Amino acid sequence: MVKTDQIVALIRSHVNNDDEMFRRVALQISAAEAKVGHALAAATIHEAITSKPTKPIMKLSPINNDMDELFMVCDKRYRMKDLIVAVEISKNVERIIKEYIEQDKLHKYNLENRRKILLYGASGTGKTMTAEILASELNLPFVVVRTDKVVTKFMGETGLKLGRVFDVISNIPAVYLFDEFDAIGTQRGLDNEVGEQRRILNTFLQLLEHDHSSSIIVAATNNFSALDKALFRRFDDTIEYKLPELAEVTEILKRELCRVKGLPFDTLAKYCLGLSHAEIKMACADARKESLLYNKKIDESSFSNIIKCRKLA
Ligand SMILES: Nc1ncnc2c1ncn2[C@@H]1O[C@H](COP(=O)(O)OP(=O)(O)O)[C@@H](O)[C@H]1O
Ligand SMILES: [Mg+2]
Repeated sequence: MVKTDQIVALIRSHVNNDDEMFRRVALQISAAEAKVGHALAAATIHEAITSKPTKPIMKLSPINNDMDELFMVCDKRYRMKDLIVAVEISKNVERIIKEYIEQDKLHKYNLENRRKILLYGASGTGKTMTAEILASELNLPFVVVRTDKVVTKFMGETGLKLGRVFDVISNIPAVYLFDEFDAIGTQRGLDNEVGEQRRILNTFLQLLEHDHSSSIIVAATNNFSALDKALFRRFDDTIEYKLPELAEVTEILKRELCRVKGLPFDTLAKYCLGLSHAEIKMACADARKESLLYNKKIDESSFSNIIKCRKLA
């Protein structure tokens, strides 16, 4: 029979990363089981400890010394239910999730799940949040590619770094967000005389095309007009994010100010038109802080003042 001290020795060797000790104790347990006639248990333990180790999974963090600066592994705070967007957008995002979950079924019929996604549109409308949500809904790490560190002013270096980024993408399944993607995806016409921008974009497009990994690649930008339109054909999905309309604004206010009784949300929503989701959430936080610190009630007049200040800022 397995003794408590053997279990403790197993745990200790695991905690201390002492593989040799772990093996030795496991073999002792197997022998002890055999001695008391538990042949099956003995054989199973013996088989488990002597079978070939499976290929080690690359650890995501730290990725590797000089690669570290190119990636940021970020927290996942949001789920799908937190995203307040127009129905078309949420349907698009849900479809990406469904196709990822059911990718085996699709592959059987020679179909690929959507996994190269371009998000563009106004700042503060949920592009970064969407990438984060894909990671949390799909139980994948959320990795932001430091576009600012990838694109450097040295000729050739950017291409090498992009190559290394795509190596990691193909080795470690995760959601990779290329934020401020315009640094890579700027129109080839808006180039300097040596054509470096053109080369960066061409390199990216080639790497993107050859990527058949199981990672999800999200490129996001607020700067739509600068993007090379050739890009749109290279992604599986392109989604435009817009400032929230009345229904979405009302929903944000209801969620952010749910503790305040009797607020005319529909009326307050009208004041917020023209602001982004992020700005409206910040205005709600301002209102709640003001109410707490100055013991003031949040009402239509105090809230509309806060919104006016935000619009002037
Ligand atoms: N569509 C949205 N639904 C709910 N909250 C949002 C939405 N868009 C933005 N936010 C809030 O604003 C913050 C910043 O949004 P973010 O996704 O970074 O915007 P961007 O489109 O600039 O990437 C988020 O962390 C979230 O709190
Ligand atoms: Mg963003």
